[in-house]
Amino acid sequence: MALASGSGSTLQAILDDPELGPLVVAAGTDRPDCTAMTRAEAAGVPTFARALRDYPDRAAWNAGLAEAIASYEPDLVVLAGFMRLLAPEVVRRFRIVNTHPALSPAFPGAHAIRDALAAGATETGVTVHWVDEGVDTGPIIVQQAVPVLPDDDEESLRTRIQAAEKPLYVQAIRRLCTAAEPINTVENTR
Ligand code: GAR
Repeated sequence: MALASGSGSTLQAILDDPELGPLVVAAGTDRPDCTAMTRAEAAGVPTFARALRDYPDRAAWNAGLAEAIASYEPDLVVLAGFMRLLAPEVVRRFRIVNTHPALSPAFPGAHAIRDALAAGATETGVTVHWVDEGVDTGPIIVQQAVPVLPDDDEESLRTRIQAAEKPLYVQAIRRLCTAAEPINTVENTR
């Protein structure tokens, strides 16, 4: 199952993969109108929305989200541009993976690409990792470096990062879905 908040290009890459697409039992969001859910619906995948504003507080939202996830009994929860921090109870209850557009631990958070440019980094990349209680932290599964070019702006760098990110994430999820043992070792492709 997948969770997404945005345009859903990462989710689309997963849905389009012949091995992974059929395994996606549902797609959930915190943003009911996001394009990611439109993409899931177009692929015939059940969707659900749990918006923060519909709950009295974050604890109740996390509980509501966790119940929705649990109802699908997923083996793996894949974050695909899901932009909210999950509570420890949620993180502990499910196997959750994330992809982040930076070489963690550098540039965590929602603006990793902008932050890498602002810091003058000459190299950034993608990190696929298990989700823990932190912001884009957790045991790293695989990383791939991406160069920052002198003329880059946020859009050009995002395009280059996401071109590397999609196959890296799809491949990592494939391995997680077929591995006999949980994969939690660092594999660095830099
Ligand atoms: C992806 O690049 C993903 O790495 C990033 O959001 C983008 C979602 O794009 N996630 C984070 O920044 C997590 N901190 P999409 O909506 O087109 O799939």
